[in-house]
Amino acid sequence: MERTLVLVKPDGVQRGLVGEVIGRLERRGLKLAAIKLMRVDEGLAHRHYGEHVDRPFFAGLVSFITSGPVVAMAWESNNAVEIVRNTMGVTNPVNAAPGTIRGDLGVDIGRTIVHGSDSPESAERELALFFQPEEILSYARSTDDWIVEP
Ligand code: RTP
Ligand code: MG
Repeated sequence: MERTLVLVKPDGVQRGLVGEVIGRLERRGLKLAAIKLMRVDEGLAHRHYGEHVDRPFFAGLVSFITSGPVVAMAWESNNAVEIVRNTMGVTNPVNAAPGTIRGDLGVDIGRTIVHGSDSPESAERELALFFQPEEILSYARSTDDWIVEP
């Protein structure tokens, strides 16, 4: 079983898209394992997006992600990282396929609505930045066998 970090970014919160993002992930069949509304401060933004520190868009990215509350979540399923990335759509909403979150709801690469970890290793690192271990819950759903063949 795999877990991945999903953020509804400040643009998604301000636009009232929290329920839309959660609804899509729930309907896909993923299981919500942790959730909180929080502010990302400069330090967390630098740790989270450290791989982009030398890119020209880094300053704008940090200022955007710290500009308002985000909803941080852990979502769980087999292949959770890849499933969430495919549900989000590619980075630039201009190229994101219809049916994806970015392809249906976004138009600008600086306002991408959601974040999803890009590998199982990134997911482990990022989940540890946003959640204490005891905040991430394991539980059974009565629907689990209808979503994944036992
Ligand atoms: P995220 O990390 O936020 O889930 O997005 P991602 O993996 O699809 O894209 P990533 O390459 O990690 O970039 C992180 C965020 O930086 C902004 N960005 N701007 N102007 C540009 O060329 C550019 N490239 C990336 C986007 O807002 C992207 O979500
Ligand atoms: Mg990324």
